[in-house]
Order: sequence, then C-alpha cells, then structure tokens
Amino acid sequence: MPHPLEQLRDEALRQIESATDEQALETTRVKYLGRSGSISSWGEKMKALAKEEKPVVGKLLNEVRNAVTAAIETRNAQFHLQRESGALAKIDISLPGTPHEIGSLHPLHQMHERGIQIFRRMGFALAEGPDVETEWYCFDALNTPPDHPARNEQDTFYLSDGRLLRTHTSTVQIRAMESAPPPLRVIASGAAYRRDEVDATHSAQFHQIEGLYVDENVSVADLKGELEFFMRELFGPGTDVQFRPHYFPFTEPSLEVYVRSKALKRGKQWIEVAGCGMVHPAVFEAVIKARDDKAYDPEKWSGYAFGLGMDRLAMILFDIPDIRLFAQNDLRFLRQFA
Ligand code: PHE
Repeated sequence: MPHPLEQLRDEALRQIESATDEQALETTRVKYLGRSGSISSWGEKMKALAKEEKPVVGKLLNEVRNAVTAAIETRNAQFHLQRESGALAKIDISLPGTPHEIGSLHPLHQMHERGIQIFRRMGFALAEGPDVETEWYCFDALNTPPDHPARNEQDTFYLSDGRLLRTHTSTVQIRAMESAPPPLRVIASGAAYRRDEVDATHSAQFHQIEGLYVDENVSVADLKGELEFFMRELFGPGTDVQFRPHYFPFTEPSLEVYVRSKALKRGKQWIEVAGCGMVHPAVFEAVIKARDDKAYDPEKWSGYAFGLGMDRLAMILFDIPDIRLFAQNDLRFLRQFA
C-alpha cells in the first residue's frame, strides 16, 4: 500500500502532465504546493506523528515536494517554448525588411560644424543667446541709436510686446560680456532675421557665427590674422582675403571681409562673407552699466568682433546658387550633401 504522500504525488504529476495551459498548471500548483495545498499541509500533520516515523515521512515529504516542483517547472518551460515558437511561426523571415530612410545633416548645419571646429582649435569657446531679443541687446547696448535705419519696422520683425527677432548675432557679444569678465574669447552660432526682400541671395532668416575676443592690447592685426587663418582652413591654401572699410555702430574701425579662392568654382570673384571691427568703447560702456562694475574698462581692454554669414559661406563652399534652397526641404537638393 503506497503512502498517502506518494498517492498525492502521483495524482499531482498526472494533473501536471494533462494541464493544457499555464493557468491550469498554476491552479494545480496551488492545489498541491500552495500554502494550504494538500502536499504542504503534511508539514502540519508531521507534528502528530510518532517520533520514529518523523524522519521517514519528513524525507518522503521532501522528495515528493521536489518531484512535483520539478515537474511544474518542466511543464512551464514547455508552455513557454510553445508560445515563442508560435509567435515566430507567424513571421516570414525571408520577407524583405521595412526600409527606413536614414537622414543626414543639413548643409547649413554641416557648415556651422566646420566653422565651430576651426574656431575651437583657435581657442574660442561657445556662447549663446535667444533668437527673440530685447531692443537693448540688439541695438542700444551695441551703440545703435533709436533713429538708426536698422531699427525701423521695415527692416526688423517686432513682436507685439516690444521684443524683436534679433537682426544679427552681435546680441551675444553683450550677453557674453555681461556674464563673464575679460579676457574673453567666444563664438556664437545661430539664426538672425531681417525683413529683407527674399531673392537668390537674401532670406528673412539667415545664419551667422559671431566672434568676440577681448583682452589687453588686441589689435586690427590680430583680427585680420585670425580671419585669414579661418578662411584658409575653410577654403584651402589658395584663398585670398580682402578687408574693405565699412561702417557698423558697434565697431571702430569697421571692415567688411571678402574672399576669393582658386579652389572654388566662382574662383575669380570676390565675395563678401563677414563684417568685423574693433569693439567700440561705447559698447564697453554699455556693458559697464549693465554689469555695474568696471570689469570692461575701455582704458584697459580692447577687443575685436566679427559676424560671419554662414549661408554665404555654405553657398560658396558647396557651390549653391540660391539661398532659398536651404529652406525648401527639397530632397533632391538635400541628398547631395548626405
Ligand atoms: N552684426 C554685423 C552684421 O550682422 C556683423 C558684425 C559683427 C560687424 C561684429 C562687426 C562686428 O552685419
């Protein structure tokens, strides 16, 4: 006559074998091995047994429990495998996959990255400022009087609250000087906005890299040398750079930068690519007021600043005939720079 525990074991094993899904298996587990399951309850019953019976039944209980647990695990693994192969069976691995288009960087973005990389090697740190600005950062602090034509509503996008879309990245000059004392060597890259008539070379949104260097004894020679170096790094050794006198309210003297390069298609032509100059003392005075200290004393510090037209530079470098192409999202155009 088998022991009642052995009968329970055989009964449990049969039920485990015939369980048709994981839920039925779990019900069986609870029935025999759950806290008040029929096998588990033998733990209590043991206490009533005679002393010499205890180790024998204890051993048997352990064996029965292990056998049933192992059988449940095996059956569970079978269910798991069935489920997985069932899911795989629905997939035809010989079908071609769904092609995903991999994008690439926009040519203007590529241009910015190249520019930033060169300036980083020259020791410039990155600074930034918002596209929506106040008149103070865009004009007043940059020595641009209220009656200056650039401040005109015909030239500048004003918001109803009096703020505006920055007309150049020179705003970041002021923000950088406000937040750190000299010496300072920063560039800022981003968009600027003007109400220009849109044509092949003008767009209402364009892009600049602004540069600012403030130190003791900074000279026009430093400015010219560094911009020449930059242009040669960008366009190659056969590049000529020309500086022509110009006017900006926030620099004195002010210059426009032209380049011409043998390496380029439009090799013979001088193309204007930047404005630059020595920081006007009135700009330092504005910063002194804003900071409420004398950190930027124009008697002690001097500096140069420049603003590079990145759309222009990209058009020259990649031989792009029309600035509007940058914003039209035409894949036939964009794919050429992938
Ligand atoms: N902000 C000027 C422009 O957008 C360029 C410039 C920058 C000129 C810095 C001088 C110094 O035209």
